[in-house]
Amino acid sequence: MRVAVYPGSFDPFTNGHLDILKRAAGIFDHIIIGVLVNPAKSCLFSPEERVEMISEVIKPFENVRAIHFNGLLVDFCQKVGACAIIRGLRAVSDYEYEMQMFSVNNRLSSEVETVFLMSSPKFSFLSSSIAKEVARYGGDVTGLVPENIQSAMLAKFADI
Ligand code: PNS
Repeated sequence: MRVAVYPGSFDPFTNGHLDILKRAAGIFDHIIIGVLVNPAKSCLFSPEERVEMISEVIKPFENVRAIHFNGLLVDFCQKVGACAIIRGLRAVSDYEYEMQMFSVNNRLSSEVETVFLMSSPKFSFLSSSIAKEVARYGGDVTGLVPENIQSAMLAKFADI
């Protein structure tokens, strides 16, 4: 069975992430969405909230589940038996960061392959930060994030 990890901060999970996930789920037998717990980064949603929201979105996919992790990504991959890391690439500007991450991960473990999927052009502008920026100032995020995440963002920003 070929298991892949789709890692990220997912603060929050966007429709761009969903597009990459759907395509990866068609290639691998099982996908584990790894939500990074990063105490150094201030996130809008807690890791538990992010996992819960993503779990709602991925209900239709039998071969996908979401869990949070901390520490090194390659260690997480080993723990869950993944042979690959999935990353989405939007534009050339993503390349340098992704190249750096690939190089570090490859140095730490040559057993895990990184598989890059190009974003669909309709999501190439989209990031979690852009979605948060729009929602923070009351803009409409329909089409940018799944419905349950839209309401969660509205609720979060209403509280702030
Ligand atoms: O969506 P992001 O924030 O670009 O995802 C980054 C992520 C979570 C993939 C990366 O920060 C990560 O893997 N962190 C875990 C720590 C680690 O393994 N670092 C070495 C590779 S940079």
